[in-house]
Amino acid sequence: MVSASPFFQMQFLSIEESNATHLESLIHLAAEMKSTRGAHSNLPLAGQTWAIIFTKASTRTRVSFEVGIRELGGNVMFLSKNDIQLGRGEPIKDTARVLGRMVHGAVIRTFAQQDVVDFASYSGIPTINALTDEEHPCQILADLLTIREKLDTWAGKKIVFIGDGDNNMSRSWMWAAKYLGFELVVAAPASCLPQKDFMDRLDASNVTLTIDPVEAVKNADVINTDVWLSMGQEGQGEKEALFGDYQVNEKLLSHCADKHIVLHCLPAYREKEITESVLEAHADTIFQQAENRLHAQKAVLAALVE
Ligand code: CP
Ligand code: NVA
Repeated sequence: MVSASPFFQMQFLSIEESNATHLESLIHLAAEMKSTRGAHSNLPLAGQTWAIIFTKASTRTRVSFEVGIRELGGNVMFLSKNDIQLGRGEPIKDTARVLGRMVHGAVIRTFAQQDVVDFASYSGIPTINALTDEEHPCQILADLLTIREKLDTWAGKKIVFIGDGDNNMSRSWMWAAKYLGFELVVAAPASCLPQKDFMDRLDASNVTLTIDPVEAVKNADVINTDVWLSMGQEGQGEKEALFGDYQVNEKLLSHCADKHIVLHCLPAYREKEITESVLEAHADTIFQQAENRLHAQKAVLAALVE
C-alpha cells in the first residue's frame, strides 16, 4: 500500500505535489516490482485499458509504459497527437471528458503542465505526467532507484544537476531534494538557473544554485545531466552556446568524490552535455537508470489503482 491518500490514487503529475513518504513508498514498490518481474502475485490493471497520449517524441517513456501496463495485466493504446483530434485543436478538456468515459487511466506527455492538470480534473481517471515542460516526475523515481541501487542511499550524498537548471529535470530534482533532504547543487549559466519565484516556492535550504561547474562537482557523489535544449527548444543556438563550460567530461569529473556515479535521463547528445567517453564509461549506470523507468512506473501505476 503506497498511500491511503485519495489524491495520490488519482494522479501522479509532479514531484512538487509529492512528499517524502510518498516518494519513499514508490521507490520501495519499484524495487519490489523489479525483483518480482515476471512473477507478480497480483495484476492490478487486469481488465483495464489505459491510453498513452504523447504530443512529444519518446523512446524510453513510451516503451516502458506500454510494457509496464501489459505486465500489470492491462491493455494499452498509444495515441500520438496526430492520431487524435487533439492535434487539430480539440481542447484537452473535451479529449479528457471523452477518454474519461472509455479508458481507466491515462499517461500524458506534452508541453504545458496545465494540460495534464486539466486532463486529470476533466477526465476523472488516474492520470500520470510522462513529461511536461515543468516536470519529469517518472524519470526522477527511476533516478532515485538507481542511486539507491548503486550507492545504497541518497542520504548524506552530494548530488549535482549540471546543464539547464531551469528545465523539467532540474525542477523535478529540486523538489525531490526538498522532500528527501539530500544536498543538491544546480550548476548552470546564469540565465538558465531557476527563477526567483520558483526558488521562493521551493523554499529548500539544501538546494543551492551556482554558475561555477567545478565548484558544483567538488566531492560530488552523483553527477546528473540532461540535454541543453529540451524538446520544443530545438534551434535555440544562442542558448546552446552558453553551456560550453558545463559539459560532463573527464576533466570535470576529476573533481568529484572517488566513487561518483553519472546519471543521464537520455537521449544524450555526445560531445555536447556529455562526452562519448564519459557516457560509455558510465553506461552500466545510465542504462540501468533507463531500465528503472519500467520498474518505477509500474510502481506508480499499481499505486494509482490499489
Ligand atoms: N528519458 C526519457 O524520458 O526518454 P524518452 O524521451 O525517450 O521517453
Ligand atoms: N529535458 C528533456 C528531457 C528529455 C527526457 C526534454 O524535455 O527534452
